[in-house]
Amino acid sequence: MRLLILGGTVFLGKHIAEAALSAGHDVTLFHRGQHGRDLFPSTEHLLGDRDGGLAALEGRRFDAAIDMSGYLPRVVRQSVELLADSVGHYTFISSVSAYRSFTEIGLTEDAPLAKLPSESEEDIGTWYGALKARCEAEVSRRFPGRDLLIRPGLIVGPDDPSDRFTYWVARGARDGEVLAPGRPGHPVQVIDVRDLAAWTLAMAERGASGAYNAAGPATPLTMGEVLAICREVGGGVGPLTWVTEGFLAEQGVAPWTEMPLFIPESDPDSIGLDSVSIRRALEAGLSLRPLRDTVQGTLVWERTRPQDAPRRNGITAKREQELLAAWHKSRT
Ligand SMILES: NC(=O)c1ccc[n+]([C@@H]2O[C@H](COP(=O)([O-])OP(=O)(O)OC[C@H]3O[C@@H](n4cnc5c(N)ncnc54)[C@H](OP(=O)(O)O)[C@@H]3O)[C@@H](O)[C@H]2O)c1
Repeated sequence: MRLLILGGTVFLGKHIAEAALSAGHDVTLFHRGQHGRDLFPSTEHLLGDRDGGLAALEGRRFDAAIDMSGYLPRVVRQSVELLADSVGHYTFISSVSAYRSFTEIGLTEDAPLAKLPSESEEDIGTWYGALKARCEAEVSRRFPGRDLLIRPGLIVGPDDPSDRFTYWVARGARDGEVLAPGRPGHPVQVIDVRDLAAWTLAMAERGASGAYNAAGPATPLTMGEVLAICREVGGGVGPLTWVTEGFLAEQGVAPWTEMPLFIPESDPDSIGLDSVSIRRALEAGLSLRPLRDTVQGTLVWERTRPQDAPRRNGITAKREQELLAAWHKSRT
């Protein structure tokens, strides 16, 4: 098929492009040229800013579009208005953050969505989820029955620019006592970018419609298991020291960013964040590899990166040691 990817050069979009090219599709990537200009050299790159600069797409026809880079309803509206009559099917990459609250375990796709305080709100940092929900509505309005809304949880694996999951993979490979946050039994959901890419493409190929949570694995996973697998695959030696969320709060350690994957259990609105239902996606063919493969693939990629370059999330080895020293002191 003729496939347009709005984006396609960083992480999930790049993996979707790779999967589509391997499947023999005719792929066009639309982006600003700030990332991945040289990727996929034999593939068409159309350059433009999707906010006001869609001219390169005028008059073009595609069987399907996959929208990787939609964050603002006003901007998504521009592409769906332009493409409604020239594109057969539109996939929008949304997020599980689109739900209104996470006080329940096992959220399904019909759970209420987050709401914006006002229609003109565009602060993505604060209103990411509610903005995604409004973007979804823009897509569904112009592509009824031809709209596929994918709501991923944390996407992980090779090429992940966020260093969230990768922090633990790299940490598992490095010797020394590991600062482990919270409770080993805390649930974790992650989805391997390669699994999500393959399934998203398959869903677009068959013109699937509707909303789907996309997370993994198929059976519950815990933080303790994630860290144990990262240790096992990475081969680092040294104990895991679990510190309480109260200690982390006292020390000013930011959940999720400084301690990736860690969400305090004292926050009642986060209880369901790592436990959304993925039954609908599994029934629609989502296939998930073992976490070990994801850790292995992430580690191989991590080792290709400059080791001294700063990472976007996680803490430094020095900070980890300081925190561990403070933890042990507090216990004596
Ligand atoms: N990472 C996660 O854990 C996670 C979880 C849930 C949902 N998501 C969603 O997954 C999507 C992110 O995917 P990705 O970054 O991996 O996708 P990607 O398609 O690999 O990379 C983003 C693409 O968008 C392009 N782009 C950004 N702003 C643009 C603009 N104004 N005009 C035109 N092109 C633009 C970038 O290229 P240029 O910079 O060259 O323009 C790049 O090609 C997002 O929708 C995000 O909300 C992510």
